[in-house]
This record gives sequence, C-alpha cells and structure tokens, in this order.
Amino acid sequence: MFSYRHAFHAGNHADVLKHATLVAVLQHLTQKEGALSVVDTHAGAGMYRLDTSEASTSGEALEGIHKLLDQVNSNGTVNASMPPLLQNYLQMLAAFNTRNGGGKTIKLYPGSPMIAAHLLRKKDRVMAFEVHPTDHRVLRGTLEQAQSDANLQMDRRNGFEGVTPLLPPVSRRGLVICDPSYELKTDYADVVVMLNESLKRFATGSVLIWYPIVGRSEAHDLPRKLKNAADKAGKDWIHATLQVRAGSSGQGPGGGLGASGVFVLNPPYTLKPQLEEALPVLVKMLGQDKYAAQKLEAKIR
Ligand SMILES: C[S@@+](CC[C@H](N)C(=O)[O-])C[C@H]1O[C@@H](n2cnc3c(N)ncnc32)[C@H](O)[C@@H]1O
Repeated sequence: MFSYRHAFHAGNHADVLKHATLVAVLQHLTQKEGALSVVDTHAGAGMYRLDTSEASTSGEALEGIHKLLDQVNSNGTVNASMPPLLQNYLQMLAAFNTRNGGGKTIKLYPGSPMIAAHLLRKKDRVMAFEVHPTDHRVLRGTLEQAQSDANLQMDRRNGFEGVTPLLPPVSRRGLVICDPSYELKTDYADVVVMLNESLKRFATGSVLIWYPIVGRSEAHDLPRKLKNAADKAGKDWIHATLQVRAGSSGQGPGGGLGASGVFVLNPPYTLKPQLEEALPVLVKMLGQDKYAAQKLEAKIR
C-alpha cells in the first residue's frame, strides 16, 4: 500500500516549479486549433486546500506557493514585474479559485489534473490515473464538480500501464504528465520506459516529467537517461532544476527535499526563454540558504 499523499506537499517548491512549467506548456499547446489530449499518469487528489491541517502539517506550502501569493492583487491580476511564466501561473491560480469557489483569496491549490481541466477547451480531453484508494475517491469527486470545459476522465489503473494504449491520441496532439511519488525504487526505471514508449508511439507528443533530487543513484541517473532517450530519437528537450536549500541532494548538508527537476520532451519553443527569466526569480523568492540555485539546460534542434 502506498503511503504518499500529495496533500501534505501540495504547493511546495517542487509543485511551484512543476506547475508553473505545466501552465506554460498547456497555454502554448492550447493556442493551436487542434484538439489536445492530456494524460496524467500520477494525478493525486486533484485539488488541495492551502488552509487545512494536511497542508500545514509540514509547512511545505508556506515555503512554496505562499511566498509568491503577495504578488497577486485582489482583482486577480499579478504584479507586472514578475516574469511572464510566473505571472501566468499565478493568474491561473487566481482564476481557478474564482471559478471553483475559492473566492478572491487563494485558498484552493489545483493539482496537475485540475490545472489541465481549468486550461483545456471543450474539444480537449484529460485522462487521469491515480491508484491510491483515498486520493482516487477524492479525485473522482473533484473532477465531477470541476468547472471545466474539457472532457475529464479518470481510472484507478497503474498510470505507467494505462498511458501506453492511449498513445498516440486520436487528435495527434498531446501531453503526458508523469509525476510519480518515487516511493518505489522501480518508479525511476518505469519513467524511462514510459518516455521511450512515448517516443516510439507518439514521437511528436510532449512529455513533462518531474523528479526529486535526492541522494540515491536512481534519482541522480534519471536526467541523464531521459536526455539520452530524447537525443537518440533526435527530439528536443529542456531540463530545469530548482534547489531552495541544502538537502539530501549532494549539495550542502541537511535532509528533506531541497531540490527537484522537470524534464520536458518536445517543449514549446517559448518555454526555454520563459524559464531562463523565471528560474533566477524563483531562487530569490523561494531560496532558504546559500545553497539555493537553479540550472537550465536544453537541446533545441
Ligand atoms: C506526486 S503525486 C502526484 C501529484 C500530481 N501530479 C500533481 O502535480 O498535483 C503522485 C501520485 O501518484 C500516485 N501513484 C503512485 N503510483 C502510481 C501508479 N503506478 N499509477 C498511478 N498513480 C500512482 C500516488 O498515490 C500519488 O497520489
């Protein structure tokens, strides 16, 4: 039985990096006319309250999204001095709260399937996989009540297995979001298999993978394996990391999750310049000690 519950971590620095990147990718993909399919292999509960005891137990959101919220004005606009990637992410949060009953202050934090549900259009589709019995049940209710134009579906299957038969999507335009909890050591290898399978079946599709930067060899090797797979297939990629403090990353003393990374296969051409501008600002706003840092690398052909 899995013990990971995303509610304890929702809105932390890793979510900020992952979800700000996700918003940028989805906003670009929905600019084109064609229908879009989003597959979320590890969906979580879908929505979290920023004021519940779960979210406040570890204080993770306080060290993450809460540090950015004073950039949002009471009318939902965002301080214009923020980089566009963060403006768009924060505007999405404000609009999501207004649309889904959070009100003017940001109380609700959408997870990846609800961010997709919010940004996608009537012709688009979201398929969300979640195996945890409680989070699966919560996700079902959340998707049923979501204010969304898109077609929303979910399944309690293993997302690594569920994604394969969905590729390529009928629309031939799509994004796979792969965000495991990495509770199982095998998750690291499964992510690489999933990326290779996606490249084989749907070479033009975009894939967004999040991973924790922790002191274990599987985590250390993962970005290299992802980059190799994309290079072998001749596909573009972006890899961004954000470290907010010393952690079990090999950089500095301390424990806990201090850093994480996102890898995007077939990224929109707008993503690299947007991340270039946003990452140093995230280091400034979320950094907790002298080990705070960011890195951006890309292969754009
Ligand atoms: C990091 S959380 C997902 C957070 C979500 N993607 C977001 O950004 O809001 C990982 C989730 O994957 C679920 N999970 C673990 N293994 C899974 C699998 N093989 N297939 C589907 N879900 C899985 C866990 O129960 C957990 O809720």
